[in-house]
Amino acid sequence: MWFANTLGCASCAQDMMDCDSGVFNEKDITLKVGMGSSRLDVELSKDISTRYIINGNSECIGGGESGKVFKVSNHLGEQFAVKHVTKSNPLLARLPFHEEAHKRLRYIELLKQEIKITQKLDHPNIIKLVETFEDSANIYMIMELCAGGRLKDLIARRMTESDTALVMDQLLGAVSYIHDKEIVHRDIKPDNMMLQNREPLHRNTVKMIDFGCSCPCPDGQRLYERVGTPFFMAPEVVTLRYGLLADVWSCGVCMFNFLSDRLPFAGGSTNETFEAVKRGNFSFNADAWRYISEDAKEFIRGLMTYDPKDRLTAQGALLHRWVRLNAPSRSSGPGSIFRR
Ligand SMILES: Nc1ncnc2c1ncn2[C@@H]1O[C@H](COP(=O)(O)OP(=O)(O)O)[C@@H](O)[C@H]1O
Ligand SMILES: [Mg+2]
Repeated sequence: MWFANTLGCASCAQDMMDCDSGVFNEKDITLKVGMGSSRLDVELSKDISTRYIINGNSECIGGGESGKVFKVSNHLGEQFAVKHVTKSNPLLARLPFHEEAHKRLRYIELLKQEIKITQKLDHPNIIKLVETFEDSANIYMIMELCAGGRLKDLIARRMTESDTALVMDQLLGAVSYIHDKEIVHRDIKPDNMMLQNREPLHRNTVKMIDFGCSCPCPDGQRLYERVGTPFFMAPEVVTLRYGLLADVWSCGVCMFNFLSDRLPFAGGSTNETFEAVKRGNFSFNADAWRYISEDAKEFIRGLMTYDPKDRLTAQGALLHRWVRLNAPSRSSGPGSIFRR
């Protein structure tokens, strides 16, 4: 994968995962670690094969830290994407039982949290979760198919300002929507942005995916876990006290990347990256920035303002002059922020 892997979410537990470790009884573990009350109550249905054709011939369309994504059809021939994740993890078997139990429980909870949150969302720029299936060892999430693949795979290495504005308008529309619902994504990065079809960007739709790190964050509440992908993390995530606006910083890092094909903070190791993020200094000195407008740079500074109290909100960012001038058609078209 082009970017460093996500930290601190279900993906990490999955890094060590393999599905042959036998059947895992979630209920036992819940009781043994005494965390029954913290379990998420997500109803997952059974038997995927009654509704979808999924077998060895199903095309793998995404490599997962947290599992694999396949293209599948239902019995009417309609196509979908299915994210298949396994519940068990043989490497955890090497840990003392209580640690193993905690990690597995946490992992299952995060998976269910991903499902629970994604189920609640209904926005043109957010992936639609159609239904879910579960058996003793697996969870399957049936989603709308993004036939255009990953945004970064379709577009040029460096994007024009107008293409970038089309993407930022849609991305910030999605972020504004989840923040309204008091949900923080925590893993916004180009890898988690898909395209609905293979048309050029102005006839396409960007979809935010992968709520595997997301969680509720009521306004004013602070979170204290370091979760996300280091290059895209806000400084306050690295220093372990943050809220919804951490996502806006990540949007700024994405925009920086779209326009320059560079990352504002990148060290030789994760710790060096964290140190660079904590310092928070970035520059527009590279050649790529020579022909980029001052408005675009000012907008990035607004998204990546160090102190979250002074940072643009997602909603405020949508109204920024640079977005409105460069993505004008969307302000009156379907999916526009002004029509919701
Ligand atoms: N709805 C979808 N349509 C098409 N491809 C998808 C879809 N969802 C995910 N993918 C592909 O699968 C990859 C992994 O999915 P993601 O949800 O990001 O899981 P992970 O937690 O492993 O990062 C994505 O980068 C993308 O290539
Ligand atoms: Mg992902």
